[in-house]
Amino acid sequence: MEKQEANSKLLQARKMYGRLLLFPLPAQGHINPMLQLANILYSKGFNITIIHTSFNFPNKSNYPHFTFEAIPEESLTGFPTRQGSVTKIVLLNKVCFDPFRDCVKRLLSNSSADDRIFCLITDALLYFTKDVADLLKLPRIVLRTSSLSAFHVYYLYPILLQKGYLSVKDSNSEAPVSEAEPLKVKDIPQTYQIEGEDLGMMIAEMMTGTKAASAILWNTFEELEQSVLPTIQQNFPIPSFTIGPFHKYFTASASSLLEQDKTAISWLDMQAPLSVLYVSFGSLAAIDKTEFFEMAWALANSKQKFLWVVRPGVIRGSEWLEPFPDGLQEAVSERGHIVKWAPQQEVLAHPATACFWSHCGWNSTLESICEGVPIICSPSFGDQPTNARYVEAVWKVGLVLENGIKREEIERAIRRVMIDQEGKEMRMRMSCLKKKVNLCLMEGGSSYKSLEGLVNFILSL
Ligand code: UDX
Repeated sequence: MEKQEANSKLLQARKMYGRLLLFPLPAQGHINPMLQLANILYSKGFNITIIHTSFNFPNKSNYPHFTFEAIPEESLTGFPTRQGSVTKIVLLNKVCFDPFRDCVKRLLSNSSADDRIFCLITDALLYFTKDVADLLKLPRIVLRTSSLSAFHVYYLYPILLQKGYLSVKDSNSEAPVSEAEPLKVKDIPQTYQIEGEDLGMMIAEMMTGTKAASAILWNTFEELEQSVLPTIQQNFPIPSFTIGPFHKYFTASASSLLEQDKTAISWLDMQAPLSVLYVSFGSLAAIDKTEFFEMAWALANSKQKFLWVVRPGVIRGSEWLEPFPDGLQEAVSERGHIVKWAPQQEVLAHPATACFWSHCGWNSTLESICEGVPIICSPSFGDQPTNARYVEAVWKVGLVLENGIKREEIERAIRRVMIDQEGKEMRMRMSCLKKKVNLCLMEGGSSYKSLEGLVNFILSL
């Protein structure tokens, strides 16, 4: 009865609130935090409309409490699927302008006084939404899904460019970047060399779009990134809310674009505590066949149990596991379990999981921190090298494979983290971070207070 009353009070309170329009970048690592944020804000009393592209959108049946609005498919005709991620993002910002503007315009004209639209919340990489918001005189809040530290590197980009860090011939340079300690030159996003001027342009537009927003939301927590937070706040003098980690409120499973193979968990259930290495490189990173063989040999030779996510397409030029040479698959199968996509949060929270060999996407990094699992880092592009460097040099909860994917180095790293005293110390430091996560989300904690601040801020718009 008490609960019923509480629920009906919540509903009454919800009636007083209005609606938020959320637009995620259509990629797994961006959809997850945006949909988690949507659930958080819904639970605080806001109605939610998710605007999405006709590709890469979450299963609507997992979100019966939200309204979904698709950008019409025909407006994205010809949108390339083969270009690099940066070029795709730049193009997306061009082709979405008209249909997004029309969609928001229609939603505004159909909205009623008791369900008024407070604002847009859009991914920082969808910088074109600034002009739409200005045109329609609608406040716009930006969600940046990466770490503060990685954003800081992008903020420094013009200086780094000017100082010549981005035209270094040796892209594997170990030289320190004094403007962004403890990063090395090789940690600065290398995509610049691959996708020409698009990266520089995308970063500049993202910075302009973020500066012009009404506020910035971060999927991180104050205690984790204290060293850069003041600098960001100083350079972006708009309200800034660190309310993460989002997935601690609502999991990533509901917004998974691929089906999660539950055998990952039943297999883990049969393993001893802290005995399994979990391997996954997220939704975008790719490796070539040689790297795949090196990974497979390293795992087989490590003599450790492992759960390996081999996402279809992760091996360039292959559908799935067909590059396995004779004999190696058997060697791997003895100790490991391979799946196409796993329920990652459940895997990391499982007592059998001892270590995560990761590409260090920000969601994966945060998910590992929240479960106290040390990380072996194989960063690939964008924010990943920064996250990896922080894992090793700032939080000291893992180590970076400095020379790409080479079996001897991987075997050594697995031993250091899973067997040696060094690994035990990393685990202890991870446990401290895990405790800090739990504290920041409790009443009075930093993320808890920041979320309260965000709700009040939106209500004031
Ligand atoms: C991308 C970028 O690569 C990343 O660097 C950036 O921070 C966000 O966008 P992605 O590569 O997919 O993301 O990595 P990550 O940020 O780690 O996100 C992957 C998400 O997929 C995580 O939430 C993870 O839980 C989920 N996942 C991953 C699964 O559900 N199952 C899997 O098997 C692997």
